Amino acid sequence: MPTKPKVFVTRILPEAGLALIRAACDTEVWPDALPPAADILRAKLASIDGLVSLLTDKLDAAVLDRAPRLKVVSNFAVGFNNIDVPACTERGIAVGNTPGVLTDATADMAFCLLIAAARRVVEGHQYTLSGQWQTWEPLGHLGQDLAGRTLGIVGMGRIGFALARRCQRGWDMKVLYHDVYKNAHAEAELGAKQVDLPMLLRESDFVSLHTDLNDATRAMIGAAQFRTMKRSAVLINTARGPLIDQRALVEALRSGTIFAAGLDVTDPEPPSMDDPLLQLPNVVIAPHIASATVETRNKMAEICARNVIAGVTGQPLPAWVNPEVAAKRRA
Ligand code: DGY
Repeated sequence: MPTKPKVFVTRILPEAGLALIRAACDTEVWPDALPPAADILRAKLASIDGLVSLLTDKLDAAVLDRAPRLKVVSNFAVGFNNIDVPACTERGIAVGNTPGVLTDATADMAFCLLIAAARRVVEGHQYTLSGQWQTWEPLGHLGQDLAGRTLGIVGMGRIGFALARRCQRGWDMKVLYHDVYKNAHAEAELGAKQVDLPMLLRESDFVSLHTDLNDATRAMIGAAQFRTMKRSAVLINTARGPLIDQRALVEALRSGTIFAAGLDVTDPEPPSMDDPLLQLPNVVIAPHIASATVETRNKMAEICARNVIAGVTGQPLPAWVNPEVAAKRRA
């Protein structure tokens, strides 16, 4: 019987995907809740054909050099800033991700953070739990209205569009967006208007980030950008923490330069318990859970499994980040 390709999975994933991988490959799953340490990952890479990675597994050129047989990296995420994709391509390694299936879950979470931050829901919850609620307060807990306000989407891809659609259809918001590409669909369907980032920041009541993290976007929202935003503005980030200069965010929230923030991602993750961000009343922070619904994680696991199986058997990946590697894939 021919030997099955060897695959290492760096965390326990939904069975919907693991069962597929186990059926096709000689599979080892890292059993701990925390990621394998760098030296353990390097040791595993020495003898595997396929890797299923998470966004917490850093795969740079030096790490990839320890993987002489590796044919595919299948990331259990749509984002892949943890992987040096050009270095994979150079080495003939295919890279897969999980686009599409987490669009609605992530847009729902962005909206949840938007309304929670705008209406001070978590602050109110803490107030109730701490026994401070004594009476109905005409001037207490005042937040921001949503209806008819302006939403600024930074990165009008699938998720940005899905949030914009929720806000435009449900709350009659005006939609501005900043993107290197024109999104004709968003313009036709939602009346969205493409603007430059300074204008988006100046005009928007809610600013939501949906762009990739790369050298051009790192810290794209910093002190200078906060100064141009409305004092009533709410900033939402469900993409990647380092898009925001977090020290500048703390200062902007503390000084009232902006009204509030809703974050599903931070820099670093998790924040340390003495991070000043955690002391502020006007920020809502979720532990990077935007894609965390049962159905979405099952679908992500399935795509991820199909990517790794395609990768180790030399087939085209169903969700292929670097199709340009096709001509030089490792046999
Ligand atoms: C992703 O997919 O990139 C998210 O951050 C985790 O689902």
